[in-house]
Amino acid sequence: MIEAKITPHTPTTLREKKWESRSLAELIQHIIAAHHQYLREELPALETLLMQSSKGRSEPQTDSVAALIKIFRQFRRGMEEHMKREEAVLFPMIEKLESAHAAGLAPPRWPFGSIGRPIEMMEQEHDRARKELAEIRSLTKDYTRIPAMAAEQPSTLDKLKALDGDMEIHSRLEDEILFPRAIALERI
Ligand SMILES: [Fe+2]
Ligand SMILES: [Fe+2]
Repeated sequence: MIEAKITPHTPTTLREKKWESRSLAELIQHIIAAHHQYLREELPALETLLMQSSKGRSEPQTDSVAALIKIFRQFRRGMEEHMKREEAVLFPMIEKLESAHAAGLAPPRWPFGSIGRPIEMMEQEHDRARKELAEIRSLTKDYTRIPAMAAEQPSTLDKLKALDGDMEIHSRLEDEILFPRAIALERI
């Protein structure tokens, strides 16, 4: 019997590390090291691959490739800005909140009220990223082909599919574990 191979990008990761019971600071460290780092390396590499694959095509074949590159760039720009906002603003706030709680202090006061406000903004950005990925999935026929590209691009398709899988884990770690636990800490 072949055992299912567990990679860092399979949904089991959510349960395996028992993030529900580890500290939020540890979870944040993991998100940055595993998922933000992955995106910072993969997004530019994938854009280069897509650009190389599209070279030399003539109209109207380039239309679908151009659409794919356009949505990919939009996704890349959005995620790069999103990660900066998380690392510069939201994650440090969550760490402060957790430290205050551990020291038995009242939750810090923020100029905009609850930590729920920036969290809501991040969740909206996750929704936008999901929609962009759905478009990429549709344009690549579920990562099976890139219409009108110079040649079959299995490595590009595999990388796009892996990106989608990684984003699923990344967003769920934040939406389902990190953010609800931070909101709950503020209410204690
Ligand atoms: Fe993130
Ligand atoms: Fe995020």
